[in-house]
Amino acid sequence: MKNTEPHWKTDFSVDWEQTSFITRREFTRFLGLGSAALATGNVLMVGINATRTETTRPRVEISEVDSIKPRGYKTFEYPEKGKHAILLRHEDGSLSAYSQRCPHLGCSVFYTEEHNQLECACHEGYFSPRTGEVIAGPPQRGLAKIELETINGKIFAIGGGEG
Ligand code: FES
Repeated sequence: MKNTEPHWKTDFSVDWEQTSFITRREFTRFLGLGSAALATGNVLMVGINATRTETTRPRVEISEVDSIKPRGYKTFEYPEKGKHAILLRHEDGSLSAYSQRCPHLGCSVFYTEEHNQLECACHEGYFSPRTGEVIAGPPQRGLAKIELETINGKIFAIGGGEG
């Protein structure tokens, strides 16, 4: 007697006696529980991230005020090693500090006394030394500002900067 079954049925046969079926109700319950587990995970992640943003930045001594001349600057690393930042002393003696990471594509920003502005050479982005806001070029937002504190003639970075 000739076998009339197609090849795939004999090659990949299913033992229906051994195979267990999942009912539509069981599958729906599985989807519901899976969705609930994912929703719970998302809520937990939001809680963890909210806790992280509350972490405080280190307090780092940058320089003595008198060691930076008006329209001068000093580079430092903040909030950690490898995150480059720049401290500016303006003509009136006030101070500003920013991350040196350009918010466009991450090149280093530097200060030019001649133009009294912060510049990114990669795509000609220009920033205000007073506010860190964009003056010209492709960056869509300003530089990350670093909070400063001056105590007894010493300048400290106390917060902000590159995330
Ligand atoms: S990376 Fe600074 S302007 Fe493009």
